[in-house]
Amino acid sequence: MFAPLIWLFLLSTGRLMARTMSGARTLLGLVLVLGGCCLAALGAGAAGPPQAGRFVAAVYEHHAVLSPDPWALSSRAQALELMSQNLDIYEQQVMTAAQKGVQIIVFPEDGIHGFNFTRTSIYPFLDFMPSPRLVRWNPCLEPHRFSDTEVLQRLSCLAIKGEMFLVANLGTKQPCHNSDPGCPDDGRYQFNTNVVFSNNGTLVDRYRKHNLYFEAAFDAPLKVDHIVFDTPFAGKFGMFTCFDILFFDPAVRLLRDSEVRHVVYPTAWMNQLPLLAAIQIQSAFAVAFGINFLAANIHHPSLGMTGSGIHTPLESFWHHDMESPRGRLIIAQVAKHPLGLTGTENATGEMDPSHSKFLEVVAGGPYCEKDAQEVRCEGATRWNMDALPTFHSEMMYDNFTLVPVSGKEGHLRVCASDLCCYLLYRRHTLSRELYALGAFDGPHTVHGTYYVQVCALVKCGGLGFDTCGQEVTEASGMFEFHLWGNFSTSYIFPLLLTSGMTLETPDQLGWENDHYFLRKSSLSSGLVTAGLYGRWYERD
Ligand SMILES: *[C@@H]1O[C@H](CO)[C@@H](O)[C@H](O)[C@H]1NC(C)=O
Ligand SMILES: *[C@@H]1O[C@H](CO)[C@@H](O)[C@H](O)[C@H]1NC(C)=O
Ligand SMILES: *[C@@H]1O[C@H](CO)[C@@H](O)[C@H](O)[C@H]1NC(C)=O
Ligand SMILES: *[C@@H]1O[C@H](CO)[C@@H](O)[C@H](O)[C@H]1NC(C)=O
Ligand SMILES: *[C@@H]1O[C@H](CO)[C@@H](O)[C@H](O)[C@H]1NC(C)=O
Repeated sequence: MFAPLIWLFLLSTGRLMARTMSGARTLLGLVLVLGGCCLAALGAGAAGPPQAGRFVAAVYEHHAVLSPDPWALSSRAQALELMSQNLDIYEQQVMTAAQKGVQIIVFPEDGIHGFNFTRTSIYPFLDFMPSPRLVRWNPCLEPHRFSDTEVLQRLSCLAIKGEMFLVANLGTKQPCHNSDPGCPDDGRYQFNTNVVFSNNGTLVDRYRKHNLYFEAAFDAPLKVDHIVFDTPFAGKFGMFTCFDILFFDPAVRLLRDSEVRHVVYPTAWMNQLPLLAAIQIQSAFAVAFGINFLAANIHHPSLGMTGSGIHTPLESFWHHDMESPRGRLIIAQVAKHPLGLTGTENATGEMDPSHSKFLEVVAGGPYCEKDAQEVRCEGATRWNMDALPTFHSEMMYDNFTLVPVSGKEGHLRVCASDLCCYLLYRRHTLSRELYALGAFDGPHTVHGTYYVQVCALVKCGGLGFDTCGQEVTEASGMFEFHLWGNFSTSYIFPLLLTSGMTLETPDQLGWENDHYFLRKSSLSSGLVTAGLYGRWYERD
């Protein structure tokens, strides 16, 4: 679960997401992405038999039936009664998806049991979970093999019924002895668990969430699960949950050390603009690693929770809806071998120096150009680099250093600690809106501690400098821009969010002379955030 501060006091169990990568500056090669991108949610009508080289995936953003009083103790029968209401909805979605030829479906974190539990009050909601590594088990066909496994049985039967791989999240329990030093006082582990079933109902594997987000009801496993499962239709998938997306383990290690081309990702994410809305971070992860990212969020607009998608490195099929109370099934055909940013199928490939040649006229015309070494501006054009005063404003609880973005074009620099961020920009018309370029280099300390380096061009909430960093979703600034910074980490997540919670694909991004850059020349709607969100895992 991921939740801004206001919810910290409200939700005793939340989770957030995080993501990570590390190592030398090799993660992302130069990226060439052409034009048109993200279609808004496809609804359930998009599929049919897959085209050659593709498979059909679905994610379901679920409006969960929640316990009216999650702190109260209930019986197993009451818990099963509540969860079966959610599983009935899952069944309808599986049947709809089956008609569209879906081969794998992903359901969100907390979608079956809900949230706000205590360690004790969640207990009746937990299934017993044998290790799929030790026992081969088909819960639908062998229901009596283990007791307290009603939810697993139902999910397994849904996979059979829909003849598809099925990924879902549930709470599980595992008894332990006090000879085990990690064993909690109550004699059991309680895990926030994703499970995957094959299309014949076999329990293929499970992942127990490592980076819990203030989830008092759950324990983190003593050893991190790095889970990769194989499918006959698209090869290897990795799996993790919500807040995990911001950390090295398991997310980045999984992608660095295996041939994972796709990730399934149940989440319960509260949007936090301007940098960490659900669809923003999901698509950035797909772009950064050159993989397909199948993200299912729960749908509770009153709690700020919405935003799911099937994200490929080149386009996204997403859903973000703060109005409707209903869930949404997203179906899309995606490549079995996603074309990554390097133009190869190697998502973690090293950047080939011969690909780093980069020379272009950023702002067009005779004004300014940037090559790998420097920015050259000619003529009498006044460039405002360093001419403007910097100011400070809080963005997502971090103290950013910013400069205002003024005029129709310009070249700006702003630095914070060891990070300098640069922007070349042009816009044809000026709107009555304030934009600013911000830099932050330091530990984020609210709701989890993790070190970030960020360059961000944001639309401010109003016309005052102190509004820069506030949450906005509508904007009209049509920028052409080139944004770059001298990051100390190789793990950079590129964010590009436009008006009305829409995503766009960068024209180009990658490393060049120790700077990471993102370029975009033609937006289809006003810019809300263009950001380079760096995670420096070693500094956490
Ligand atoms: C969780 O608890 C908080 C605090 O009481 C409450 O405001 C919120 O509505 C609860 N959420 C759910 C889904 O029960
Ligand atoms: C069921 O699915 C698993 C995982 O794909 C596979 O290994 C197994 O052979 C299948 N079993 C049958 C009976 O088809
Ligand atoms: C990806 O690139 C790295 C670095 O060039 C190389 O070591 C690795 O073998 C490649 N992996 C694949 C699957 O091609
Ligand atoms: C933000 O950082 C600046 C520079 O270090 C400092 O002067 C200012 O007081 C900080 N603002 C807050 C709210 O901490
Ligand atoms: C980034 O550039 C600034 C300004 O040139 C410099 O002071 C800083 O040390 C650089 N940071 C790194 C990590 O190279």
